[in-house]
Amino acid sequence: MRIVAASDHAGVELRHEMADEARLLGHEVTDLGPAPGEAVDYPVNGARVGRLVAAGEYDLGLLVCGTGVGISIAANKVHGIRAVVCSEPFSAELSRRHNDSNVLAVGARVVGPGLARMITRAWLTAEFEGGRHARRVQLISDLDAEREADVLTPDRAVK
Ligand code: RB5
Repeated sequence: MRIVAASDHAGVELRHEMADEARLLGHEVTDLGPAPGEAVDYPVNGARVGRLVAAGEYDLGLLVCGTGVGISIAANKVHGIRAVVCSEPFSAELSRRHNDSNVLAVGARVVGPGLARMITRAWLTAEFEGGRHARRVQLISDLDAEREADVLTPDRAVK
């Protein structure tokens, strides 16, 4: 798969670990940075990765910030993105199998390099199961469409 990775300044080393793990699994990884010592606000790179995945230029995205929280919130603002922040492999795997997550975020101040590699591996080797989960993921996609309707029609009644 084509994977795009990015972080803020807090996540540089862990991003390298995760990108390396993805490459070991045979994936093609594009690393958007930042370089060590370069400051980047997490919403900038969260949105960048989100837009590239949503546009179909990459299949999946990897994100890292201090907690994984801020950068995943930013990515989730992009229509079509289902970003998850995970600190253990079980949630990472289930987020692929049940939620069809397309961006994985990890916190560099939360998780060490070995665990981050396990989380990345669990996420990248799991596949979406479809079936009843597809209907639920569609309900999430409907929320994206509703949000756009809210923006376009500010006086739309709240249900
Ligand atoms: C940066 O200091 C820190 O706030 C950021 O990496 C992240 O943890 C935000 O959610």
